[in-house]
Amino acid sequence: MPSDPRTVLRLAIAGDIHDQWNHQDHELLRYLQPDALLVVGDLSEGGQRIAAMLQQVEIPLACVLGNHDSGKDPSGRRLEQQLEMLGERHCGWRLRELRPPGLAVVGARPGTAGGGFRVSQAVRSVFGPFSLHESAERIRSAAMGADPALPLVLLGHSGPTGLGSEAADLCGRDWKLPARDWGDLDLALAIHQIQQQRPVSLVVFGHMHHALRRGRGERRSFRLDGRGTAYLNAACVPRHGVDERGRALHHFSWVEFDAAGRLLEASHRWFGSTGELHYEQKLWTAPPDPDPLPLVVSPGPPGGCGDRDPAALLRQC
Ligand SMILES: [Fe+2]
Repeated sequence: MPSDPRTVLRLAIAGDIHDQWNHQDHELLRYLQPDALLVVGDLSEGGQRIAAMLQQVEIPLACVLGNHDSGKDPSGRRLEQQLEMLGERHCGWRLRELRPPGLAVVGARPGTAGGGFRVSQAVRSVFGPFSLHESAERIRSAAMGADPALPLVLLGHSGPTGLGSEAADLCGRDWKLPARDWGDLDLALAIHQIQQQRPVSLVVFGHMHHALRRGRGERRSFRLDGRGTAYLNAACVPRHGVDERGRALHHFSWVEFDAAGRLLEASHRWFGSTGELHYEQKLWTAPPDPDPLPLVVSPGPPGGCGDRDPAALLRQC
């Protein structure tokens, strides 16, 4: 049941799956009954099993594929097979309106590995040549087609540039020195442009796993920018686990909105296979009255993507 009486929209988000999706996840969704499921890609290493399983999810679903989904096949065939299976569920560079529950989802560039604007041969094989600005424009124009009455969620595999350049930031490079902002410029540009025209409720992504390399702790996974857009990294990897009591755990990031698309709550949740909430990491809870949201709620450098000038974003490339 919703934890807040104002809640009208409950989203479950599966971070980078990396082969960890099974029928227990479907059963769990039946217990939890979120209004929609968002999937941020890296389903596996180019296999078809999980894309086939996602066809069977019974609630509204939107997905974007990640860099691992090409399976190191430069012909793009493996990527294409999954795209065919996902069909309308895949929303790369595209608007997917989910009615019910009443949510506009726009996908960012499919198959990205972050790092500004790095496009694999597999992605070029499937989608043809395109520039950074063309990619940003595809995201922007898809968002402009969304019903302005619906909350807008941008769904990427990698997050945008502009969320910090430390290893522990939402898109920070942690596997190699120096640490740097490993977000995507085309998504950052698109967000900046969309925010001039309409609110963006949430930008959700994965790719940069929560556990930092070399045992350097946990990544920050949530930010709000000055325009009220929330940024959530959902990449808890592995998303299946077992706790010290031997209980199976399934991770979902969890977001709840009110009717105006205002964020009420964001968290990481670890459920038992029959729906028990075993662990929760609260990322954001809105105040109980309708006062404006505070601007920044978790540690991190000042200013989010929406506060940045696009020219400054490009200079980072
Ligand atoms: Fe990835």
